[in-house]
Amino acid sequence: MEQKEISKAVITRLPRYYRYLGELLEDGVERISSGELSTRMKVTASQIRQDLNKFGGFGQQGYGYNVRYLYAEIGKILGIDRQHNLIIIGAGNLGQAIANYANFERRGFMIKGMFDVNPRLIGLVVRGIEIRGVEELEKFIVDNDVQIAALTIPKTKAPEIADRLVKAGIKAIWNFAHIDLAVPDDVVVENVHLSESLMRLSYRVCSMQDEKEKKNLL
Ligand code: NAI
Repeated sequence: MEQKEISKAVITRLPRYYRYLGELLEDGVERISSGELSTRMKVTASQIRQDLNKFGGFGQQGYGYNVRYLYAEIGKILGIDRQHNLIIIGAGNLGQAIANYANFERRGFMIKGMFDVNPRLIGLVVRGIEIRGVEELEKFIVDNDVQIAALTIPKTKAPEIADRLVKAGIKAIWNFAHIDLAVPDDVVVENVHLSESLMRLSYRVCSMQDEKEKKNLL
């Protein structure tokens, strides 16, 4: 497939396309026009065309998009047609919640192990995944070809663990700890902060209320 340079903004939108296309396939829909996809996704048809034409050769005049093909191609672009081995550092509430979510495996993210410092947790098994002591971290990463580490530990401990992960060869950190990590250029960090998402929601709901109040005053 010919692939033009894809902007960060498009990459950010691809997982949502992937999710909708997956749902269409589950519903038995094999082809869809940009107009229909636009109605479902509440994105303009021109935005869809602009985004998806970046990859070249998906849409066909008068036919629309081949859902299965597009789903597979977006999967390849997102790298989820491959298996990624993942570990979770911090087997507390959040770490265990992630481990208990079986759907990551359907996307190729295989949770290989969990690590903690709490002796009461070490040795427990969550959905078949054993919790190990952090002293085993480096060897486990090498032995299990681990690429991604989820950090669900207190922020004060995160920089030290991140350094160890990088030295052990980890190339991607899924960071839930509320701290910006300093890592080398060849390591990627994806920060996930639910509270930031909630603050954006708060902003939107407050703006809506303010707007309503303004209208009522007029
Ligand atoms: P928790 O206290 O239930 O779990 C933290 C676990 O980390 C504990 O089991 C603890 O023993 C372990 N731990 C501490 N130091 C460690 C180390 N050096 N190596 C390995 N394990 C270590 O806390 P919870 O609720 O699971 O939250 C975990 C982290 O995630 C916190 O930093 C919290 O602020 C953050 N968090 C972030 C969210 C987000 O949206 N980004 C949402 C919820 C929590």
